[in-house]
Formats: sequence, C-alpha cells, structure tokens
Amino acid sequence: MRKKIIAANWKMYKDLAEANDFFTFFIDKLPKTKAEVKIGTSYTNLWHAFETTRNYPIEIVAQNLHQEEKGAYTGEVSASMLKSIGIETVIIGHSERREYFGESDHILKQKVTTALKNNLNIIFCIGEKLSDRKANNHFDLVKSQLKNALFDLNKKDWKHIVLAYEPVWAIGTGETASPEQAQEMHLFIRNTIAGKYGNELAENVRILYGGSVKPDNAGTLFSQPDIDGGLVGGASLEVDSFIEIIKAV
Ligand code: PGA
Repeated sequence: MRKKIIAANWKMYKDLAEANDFFTFFIDKLPKTKAEVKIGTSYTNLWHAFETTRNYPIEIVAQNLHQEEKGAYTGEVSASMLKSIGIETVIIGHSERREYFGESDHILKQKVTTALKNNLNIIFCIGEKLSDRKANNHFDLVKSQLKNALFDLNKKDWKHIVLAYEPVWAIGTGETASPEQAQEMHLFIRNTIAGKYGNELAENVRILYGGSVKPDNAGTLFSQPDIDGGLVGGASLEVDSFIEIIKAV
C-alpha cells in the first residue's frame, strides 16, 4: 500500500515572517493524517522552517538544487549545502524551472544524479503543455521526460524518487485535469515504469498530481487508484485550504 503524500510548493512566495505566521497556525491545526506532509519553501526559509517543524510530522523540502557538487556558480545552492541544514528532499524538474530557467532533460538528469549521490530524496515533476495535449502528443512527451531523466537509474535508486505529474495547462490556472484525465496519465506513467523496471517497482512508486489542487477537488483526485497525493501550489499558501487538502486524504 503506497503511503500518500501531500506536498506544498510555495514557489517564490512567503518571506521569513510570512512563513513563520503560517507555521504558527499550521502546527496548531495540523490534523492526524495517514499522509506524509511536506512543504517546499525558498532557500532563505529552509533552515528556520526546518528548526520550527522538527518536532512535528512535517518535512521541509527544497525546490531546486544545482547539478554540480560545488564550484564557481554564483547564487547557486548545492546538494551538500541542503543536506548540511537537515534537508532530505528536493523538488527537481518543476515546469517553471524547465520553462523559465532553461532546465532541459539533460540538466535535470544531472541534478537527479547529484541529488542521489548526496542521499537526497527527489520529487521529480513531469507534465505536458496544452499544445502537447491538443496535438495528442501528451503521452509521448511524458514518456520522453521520464526516459531522458530517469531511465538510466538503477532499481535501488527508485526508492528515493517520487513523481509529480503536473500538466502545465493546469498549474496556477484554476483549470484542473479531470480525475479521469489525471488517472489515465498516472496509470500510463506507472505502466511505462513497469515496462522498464517491472511491476513490483512500478507499484511502489508514488505519483502525485499537481495543477490547481483545491479543497473541493482534492478528494476525488486522491481517490483515483494511481494518484498517491498532490503537489499543491496556490492552495498551500493559506493554512485553512492546505489543511482541508490534507484532510481530503
Ligand atoms: P498550483 O501549482 O497548485 O498553484 O496549480 C502546482 C505546482 O506548480 O506545483
């Protein structure tokens, strides 16, 4: 039985004071849940958020890392820097990184390798643009994203990988993939992994859905057989809506 994950992706929102405010109320209201709860926040908040939540069932995760171990890369943050402040998980391949920061499958593959080498767990994002879906190319595109970045991994590496299927057309748009559309793609992803690594491994990989997850659609999405939780942007910024989404598990 795969344990569900509800992960917040705060993107470039919340400074230290705003993050603190959130945690004050969030810790107080956090319900008992079967899900793993994670919060992805900016580098400047990571250490403080980690310290604030260390006695609670909340994992603080990073939103990015650099692919090199160290070097003259002004402004960048390495895997070992994240590890040194207690971070165990990093989001890699978010569509905003792909789109606005030119992160190709090749770079993302390097990031995955570096993260794994440093014993970091990974939430790896994949998903098609609207143009891909309209051209009926969405399955091929998602398959190529998986193949190019992840299919050289060893079986044992997959213990450290969680996938997030995030159709780009549903991110921050208020438009959600229908539960059927999401389930269809999640099943496709699982079958693609099974084709490469076998059924047992594929059955254990957790695949989150992301793209306008809200309190009112979370329950139906999370009850689909191949949806193992959510990666939540906008609705994770408010304590009450994020709590409602956690309760939907
Ligand atoms: P959204 O973002 O929930 O605001 O659509 C999801 C994401 O980008 O991870």
